Amino acid sequence: MTGKQRIQWRSMCKSLVLGTLLTSCMILVYCLSTPQIHYSLPEVPVPYSCAHRPTQSQHKSTINNSDTAYICTPKVDIMFMKTHKTASSTFLNILFRFGEKHQVKFAFPDSRNDFFYPSFFQRSQVKDYRPGMCFNIICNHMRFNAPEVSKLLPVDTSYITILRDPAELFESSFHYFGRLVPFTWTIPGDDKLTEFLRDPHKYFDPGSFNSYYLKNLLFFDFGLDNSLDVNDPRVEEGIKFISDRFQLVMLVEHFEESLILLKDALCWEMDDLLFFKLNIRKGSTLSKFTPELRARALEWNAIDWKLYQHFNQTFWKKVDAYGHQRMAEDVAELKKRNKEMTSICIEGGHAVEAGSIQEKDMQPWQPIGEKSIMGYNLKKNIDKAHRNLCRKMLMPEIQYLTELGVNLWITKLWGHVRDIINW
Ligand SMILES: *[C@@H]1O[C@H](CO)[C@@H](O)[C@H](O)[C@H]1NC(C)=O
Ligand SMILES: *[C@@H]1O[C@H](CO)[C@@H](O)[C@H](O)[C@H]1NC(C)=O
Repeated sequence: MTGKQRIQWRSMCKSLVLGTLLTSCMILVYCLSTPQIHYSLPEVPVPYSCAHRPTQSQHKSTINNSDTAYICTPKVDIMFMKTHKTASSTFLNILFRFGEKHQVKFAFPDSRNDFFYPSFFQRSQVKDYRPGMCFNIICNHMRFNAPEVSKLLPVDTSYITILRDPAELFESSFHYFGRLVPFTWTIPGDDKLTEFLRDPHKYFDPGSFNSYYLKNLLFFDFGLDNSLDVNDPRVEEGIKFISDRFQLVMLVEHFEESLILLKDALCWEMDDLLFFKLNIRKGSTLSKFTPELRARALEWNAIDWKLYQHFNQTFWKKVDAYGHQRMAEDVAELKKRNKEMTSICIEGGHAVEAGSIQEKDMQPWQPIGEKSIMGYNLKKNIDKAHRNLCRKMLMPEIQYLTELGVNLWITKLWGHVRDIINW
């Protein structure tokens, strides 16, 4: 064995041992922190609305529907079903800023940044929950559980969510979560994704820890069975359940159009829609999939593909109803405004790799064993009028949650441990 090989060998062993040890520790911490008792809560009817009118009157929007201009009140009671790997961090930042502007009450989780995913959502997981309380917005990761959600939020809540092309989503999920799914450790070669898609049944083990990250993850997030055969009638029923429940299903591929539809549905203002893309992966703009691999990824995630196609149809019907010309103008306006914000806020005008981010506050959360998520540097001399907005628009999710008063000790402990061993 040469010296170089020995060093490689040693560092590999080190990572393996540390990785195994840490994963076990974290699983233990997560298990211990799951509320053990699902004590039955008294049934108190939820309020009709949790909008507090006085402050709202200051925020009337004028909707100009070319021939009818009318005044409406922004909707503040919102359930955002945050799906995985769907630009939902970017959307959360929009929701956080909207929530602060209207001084809404968020239903946040306690001790970590999700509602004990992948277990089903329970309202007892909401920080400081008591029956009959008023909450406006819920938006952290959860496994959707309609009856519990509806026992938490007011009757007039708007349910919204976002979907992404399942092949792209699968690629992203494989990259981000692959290492957390033990059966991927046995896939040979450097390009594990291609190898997996060559013969998924050979590697996939539905009983394996975290395996839902790698099959029909969208359907799973909605609380449905991701292992059904795509022709099973329960798949259609599931799609119908989502379409009955959610009044707006946005698409990552048409993010700006989605936001305009949202503005229209919830009576928001263009100012509320400004955003920078957060949580972007280095080199992720171009999909590495060949048409053949893409077809395989869609076949493997056939339920999600059916789901996506269904809501793609309803999405474009909504755009038809809104008017294509009007949509094009509004999207152009939003893009222009975002571009202006970029030149006001962002040093260099683009995202940079983690190593080049100067402020710790601006460091995004990284997947295990990598530093592939990019972030931003705030410009130095931002004028007073924009300083706060820029900071908020660029703030990564974990830091923003902390600023909003969420206690994230488990998430942070995990982060510190990873910092120490540089993993
Ligand atoms: C609505 O739009 C029309 C034409 O686009 C414009 O003439 C009118 O002034 C607008 N009304 C308001 C209230 O913004
Ligand atoms: C989405 O719908 C549009 C309009 O009907 C269609 O042109 C497009 O091919 C659809 N895309 C997918 C992925 O189904």
